[in-house]
Amino acid sequence: MRAVTLTMAILGASIATAAFAQAPAPKKGGIESTGYTWNAQEGEKLEALKLKGDRTNGEEAYEVCGACHLPSGAGRPDGTFPQLAGQHTTVLIKQMADIRAGLRDNPTMYPFAVTLTDPQELADVSAYIAGLCIPTDHGKYDGADAAVQVAKGKTLYEQQCLECHGAHGQGDKEKFYPVIAGQHYKYLLRQMTEIRDGRRRNANPDMVKVIKPYTDDMLVAISAYQSSLKMPGAMCGAKTSGK
Ligand code: HEC
Ligand code: HEC
Repeated sequence: MRAVTLTMAILGASIATAAFAQAPAPKKGGIESTGYTWNAQEGEKLEALKLKGDRTNGEEAYEVCGACHLPSGAGRPDGTFPQLAGQHTTVLIKQMADIRAGLRDNPTMYPFAVTLTDPQELADVSAYIAGLCIPTDHGKYDGADAAVQVAKGKTLYEQQCLECHGAHGQGDKEKFYPVIAGQHYKYLLRQMTEIRDGRRRNANPDMVKVIKPYTDDMLVAISAYQSSLKMPGAMCGAKTSGK
């Protein structure tokens, strides 16, 4: 109870600070600027990747994150906040370092991302999140034509995405390819659109090449299929404890 009250107080204060006093996120050249290198191994990202994360400390640091991403890491089915649970530590560290450095725009989260003090805390919170099971009741495509869209998306996925994100949406920890299994349909559709249109500025150029020619209809189908993926052994139920 005290912890909850404290979190609310901190959140209230942070939101007020964010609205009135916080310096805006820096802006770093991204995918559409010359000399862009995807995933340059440098700075706090490189340091955090070398450290061993402490899950107990990470759980504490995660408290402030749970207000949006939920304590379970499930995010929200309406796609506003992504599901994070079970994501690879490498991916979490890269995405957070990019947000902190102004390479991935996220004005809503930026004031909270900067509350993590150093590379150790980045490693800790990532270790905690990666250990959480992936909830199965996430937002899926629920249109009347769901079966058709999922089937269309499956064909595209197997030809163009499976090679990097895996047959079960498990990604690749070593290569910084994200887990997609259990992600909300509406978040997926937004990311697909932003990556295609060059607005997710930290995107992987090889993925951008693949998705550039996609029509909006194809993005719906590919997102519908992705939201149907399950990663064996990592979903809640099979794996019950994150600790
Ligand atoms: C005020 C709400 C809010 C808070 C608090 C917040 N986030 Fe987020 N976070 C977001 C939003 C919104 C996005 C998705 C932005 C987008 O669509 O690109 C996001 C995206 C992310 C991503 C990228 C996910 C992906 O799949 O690429 C990570 C990682 C993340 N948050 C971790 C954290 C951590 C760790 C904390 C706590 C230190 C935190 N967030 C606190 C709102 C929040
Ligand atoms: C060459 C490997 C590669 C290919 C091919 C590829 N991706 Fe990706 N994808 C990545 C990487 C790397 C990222 C993370 C980019 C970053 O650093 O922000 C990513 C990010 C994503 C994300 C965002 C995940 C999140 O949590 O925000 C989604 C969704 C996604 N890819 C789906 C797809 C789909 C669907 C296809 C096929 C049309 C595809 N990808 C093809 C490597 C690839």
